[in-house]
Amino acid sequence: MKITGDKIKKINKAVFSEISKIEDLNKLEELRIKYLGRKGELTEILKSIKDFTIDEKRQTGPVVQKLKIEFEKLINNKKKELKAQGEDYSFGDFDPTKPGKKIKIGNLHPLSKVDEEIRQIFTSMNFSVIEGPEIESEYYNFDALNIPADHPARDVWDTFWIKNPENSKLRMKNEELKNRDSKSTKAKRLLLRTHTSPVQIRYMEKNNPPFQVISSGRVFRYEATDSSHEINFHQVEGLMVGKDISLANFKFVIEEFFKRFFKGQKIDFRFRPSYFPFVEPGVEVDIKFKNKWLEVMGAGMVHRNVFKSAGYNPDEWRGFAFGMSPERLSMIKYNIPDIRLFYSGDLRFIEQF
Ligand code: FA5
Repeated sequence: MKITGDKIKKINKAVFSEISKIEDLNKLEELRIKYLGRKGELTEILKSIKDFTIDEKRQTGPVVQKLKIEFEKLINNKKKELKAQGEDYSFGDFDPTKPGKKIKIGNLHPLSKVDEEIRQIFTSMNFSVIEGPEIESEYYNFDALNIPADHPARDVWDTFWIKNPENSKLRMKNEELKNRDSKSTKAKRLLLRTHTSPVQIRYMEKNNPPFQVISSGRVFRYEATDSSHEINFHQVEGLMVGKDISLANFKFVIEEFFKRFFKGQKIDFRFRPSYFPFVEPGVEVDIKFKNKWLEVMGAGMVHRNVFKSAGYNPDEWRGFAFGMSPERLSMIKYNIPDIRLFYSGDLRFIEQF
C-alpha cells in the first residue's frame, strides 16, 4: 500500500476533529486504538514504510513519525483534561470556591481603654494603683469621711443600701467585709459604694505616708439618669499625702494629667470652690463641653477629721484628694453626647474606639 500526502492530511484532520468531540475517557481510548493501536490507521502506515523506496522513505518517514508523536501528545493532554473535569472538589457540604466568612474581632470597650490610659498617666507620675471593694460598709463610705449619719451631705449621695445581706448572693463578700471591719466595730449597714473615696481610708489605715495613689472603679448612685448622669458609673480617686503637700501640687498634677490625657486637644477648664465634708478647702473642676461647663471632678485638701479616722496625726501630714469621672472625660475627649451610650451595648458605638 502506497500512501499519499493527501491521506496523511486526511488522517490528521480526522484526529483533530474527532478528539475535540470526545467527552469521556473510554471514547478517548477507542480513538487512540483506532489510530495508534496495533492495527490502527497510523500504525499501519508506519508499518508500510518499510516497503517504500529510499527516496519515499526519506520523504514520508519523518512526516508520519512526527504525526504519531503529535497524536500521542494530543491524546495525553485530552486524558489529563478529562480526568481533571471528573475530579470531585466539593468535600461534602464544604465548598472551597465560596468566599470565606469574615471573622469579627472584638475590641476593648472605650471605658476600658480610657481607664488604662488614666492608669498609665498617673503611674508615669509615680502614683501607685490600689483597689477597694464595691460593696462597702457605711463606715468607710460615709462616717470615716467626716459624714456622720445625721449629716445633710449624705443626701448628696443617694445610696443603694443592701437589704438582708445574709440571704443575698453577696453573702460571701459581706462576711469578708464584716470580718475585716469587725475588729473596730465598723460593721454597720452595707451599701454599694457611692464614690471611690472610701478607698482612701482603707489605704491610710494600713499604710504610712508619704505616698501617692490612685484607685479606679465602679460606683453606684440611686438617682435619675440623663445625658451626663448614670446610676452605675466609674470614678478615679487620687490621694497624695506628705509633709508639705498643697493645693498647688494638686493643680500641677491635674493640669499635667489633662495635658497628657487630651494630647494637645484644646480644652477650656476651671477650678471652682466647692464643698465636700472630707476636704477643706474643697474644689470642683469643670471642662467646657458643647458650650456648657461639665463637672469632671471633685477635690480638695484632706480634712483633719479624715486623717484622724485613718489614725494619722493631722498636724503632721497634709494631702490632696480628688475623685474624677472617666465617663465624662471620655465624653469630652471623643465628643460623645450622652453618657448612657457607654452602657447601651450598641456595637455601632463601641466599635468606633
Ligand atoms: C465625689 O464623689 C467625691 N468623692 C469626689 C472627691 C474625692 C471630692 C476626693 C474631694 C476629694 P461627686 O459626687 O461630685 O464627688 O462626684 C465626682 C465626679 O463624678 C463628679 O464631678 C462628676 O464628674 C462625676 N459624677 C457624679 N455623679 C455622676 C453620675 N450620676 N453619673 C456620672 N458621673 C457622675
